[in-house]
Amino acid sequence: MEIRDIRKRAGKDISVAVTAEEINAVRIKYLGRKQGEITTLLRSLKDLSDVEKREKGPLIQNLQNEIEASISFKEEEIKKSGSITDITLPGKRVETGHLNLITQTENEIRRIFNSMNFSVIDGPEMEEEYYNFDALNIPLDHPAREMWDTFWIKSKKGDSAQKKYLLRTHTSPVQVRYMQKHKPPFQVISIGKTFRYEATDATHETNFHQVEGLMIGKQIPLANFKFVINEFFRQFFSEKTVKIRLRSSYFPFVEPGVEVDIKLDNSRWLEMLGAGMVHPKVLQTVGYDSREWQGFAFGLGVERLAIIKYKIPDIRLFASQDLKFIKKF
Ligand code: PHE
Repeated sequence: MEIRDIRKRAGKDISVAVTAEEINAVRIKYLGRKQGEITTLLRSLKDLSDVEKREKGPLIQNLQNEIEASISFKEEEIKKSGSITDITLPGKRVETGHLNLITQTENEIRRIFNSMNFSVIDGPEMEEEYYNFDALNIPLDHPAREMWDTFWIKSKKGDSAQKKYLLRTHTSPVQVRYMQKHKPPFQVISIGKTFRYEATDATHETNFHQVEGLMIGKQIPLANFKFVINEFFRQFFSEKTVKIRLRSSYFPFVEPGVEVDIKLDNSRWLEMLGAGMVHPKVLQTVGYDSREWQGFAFGLGVERLAIIKYKIPDIRLFASQDLKFIKKF
């Protein structure tokens, strides 16, 4: 039928028109006062019988209204966007995602330690009590367990009574798992999520990230650690000289234990990480002869590094989904 055919063609013509000229040509083609197809159709009504007029008239009228509306809409659209085919217009900015600042920082940490020949190892986030504590010289009744407020996992029916699970409170259990399976010498780091059951504030989060470092060999004194950590900070903070100082401290799995502070430019001393010589008991637990092997371990907060490097006021921003913060990096 003629009406259906016109409706179809007009729809197509309107949809492909992209410039003001093109849509105007469509208007003339269908609605033009002299020779528009609809106009001609309406004009031809006068030759029809009254019955036919009553039948066809409203249909054509409807079609005219419909086409008029579509054309106006398209004209409006073209007016708003300018000519759609104007290839000289600047492109519209497409928003793409990017790596979170934590991931960026982790990548940077990996790059630096790789440059010093450390390989990257991994361990589970849900850990056995044994690896998180006992094997690190922190037995059940040891008061030092209080240093790590712990999320315990409820055991399921059928779990063995000896195996208790928790969310690892530090990355140090990865040391034990690795040493059990590998013979020294080696130098490794592990980066990942850690969890502590404590109140959050500007410098504490329940979920955060740590880097663990471990280097074992025949002659790896604390002096090697000083070099490695100094070189790490020098590269991470892109400074020629980063001052570091070691303060004696206590962790059950190292002896001696130290706390490392750094000083950048004219800033004050900042407490950065814990470290020390791996405790002979830990070496023995994994089956090493502690008279033959020695080495250092350290544990460093990823958020803490990023906070200092990028001057971030509050650790809670990392997980806040605050787009202004996220897009800044
Ligand atoms: N695991 C310690 C902590 O999270 C840090 C540490 C790692 C200290 C290795 C010494 C050696 O507090």
